[in-house]
Amino acid sequence: MTDTTKDRVVIFDTTLRDGEQSPGATMTHAEKLEIAELLDDMGVDIIEAGFPIASEGDFRAVSEIAQRSKDAVICGLARANLTDIDRCWDAVRHAAKPRIHTFIGTSPLHRAIPNLTMDEMAERIQETVSHARNLCDNVQWSPMDATRTEWDYLCRVVEIAIKAGASTINIPDTVGYTAPRESADLIRRLIETVPGADDVVFATHCHNDLGMATANALAAVEGGARQIECTINGLGERAGNTALEEVVMAMRVRGDIMPFETNIDTRKIMHISRRVATVSGFQVQPNKAIVGKNAFAHESGIHQDGMLKNAETFEIMRPEDVGLSATNLVMGKHSGRAALRAKLKDLGVEAGDNQLKDLFVRFKELADRKKEVYDEDILALVTATTTDG
Ligand code: KIV
Ligand code: ZN
Repeated sequence: MTDTTKDRVVIFDTTLRDGEQSPGATMTHAEKLEIAELLDDMGVDIIEAGFPIASEGDFRAVSEIAQRSKDAVICGLARANLTDIDRCWDAVRHAAKPRIHTFIGTSPLHRAIPNLTMDEMAERIQETVSHARNLCDNVQWSPMDATRTEWDYLCRVVEIAIKAGASTINIPDTVGYTAPRESADLIRRLIETVPGADDVVFATHCHNDLGMATANALAAVEGGARQIECTINGLGERAGNTALEEVVMAMRVRGDIMPFETNIDTRKIMHISRRVATVSGFQVQPNKAIVGKNAFAHESGIHQDGMLKNAETFEIMRPEDVGLSATNLVMGKHSGRAALRAKLKDLGVEAGDNQLKDLFVRFKELADRKKEVYDEDILALVTATTTDG
């Protein structure tokens, strides 16, 4: 249900474009179709399905994802030239809701690559955004490396893109250089300064080189951005992009200070995270927020005891909310007697006080030798206590 007290933030997923650009993360055609379908079902608003000019395979994937799309807008990426934009349109036009996303690097370092003067680049932006807009009603424009672009020039090119017909202006922190306060201020000042800014959506696209991508994206939303660009598991170039599951759950759990809502069915997060890990070959680190194997696991005796009494003692989210069936009490040397009793109950073992005492001693001996004590180990101890005792 829509909460009218909360502003809606659009989720733009780029797992299949920026995510797939991570060295070694290439996905097959069938895998891309599967991930796109999962993203659509999960309630992602916009799927950046690929970079159609990059290869025949990318073109085919974007076209087919566009044809099969249900509710999501399907977006393709294009550099600032007419050939790229035409190719992109040829791929996304099959979607019920297509979008062209065109970009050019505007910082001094990026301007030096095509060797364009500031005026020449401004003209190129005007020409390419207008061309995209003549093909498609929904055009997004990005000044790549925006966070290292001179302020006056950034305002100038954003204004040109708006006048040429872009309806979304994305402000990428391409190299993960910005910090949260700057991220919020940059968006806020752009909205206050650039003529026409009120008529477009500002987006934030953060990379994680300094580990600040999630914080920067959320800060940008506080500054007025209403579209977050992100990927599942934070997959992406170098240290990755903002992780979808982190920003979505942060806004959900801390709605008291971040009154924003998304269209994401968070119960689908865990499944898609696992599928993306499998198909990309990028395993999720165990202590990764939200989707790591240990994100809802507890080993220490104090934590396990607290969890058994009241899950809110050590969990700020319910595992079911992200698609996990239950909290995981990991049995190890830090586990206490209460956790062992709960584990035995889960395993269907009724142990009396004496057997529990004996089992606990044996369990601690084993846990000293083994990092993790599995259910089978505990059942073997139960058998040993009944046969020995
Ligand atoms: O990081 C970046 O600047 C990008 C652009 C293509 C939007 O991915
Ligand atoms: Zn990027």
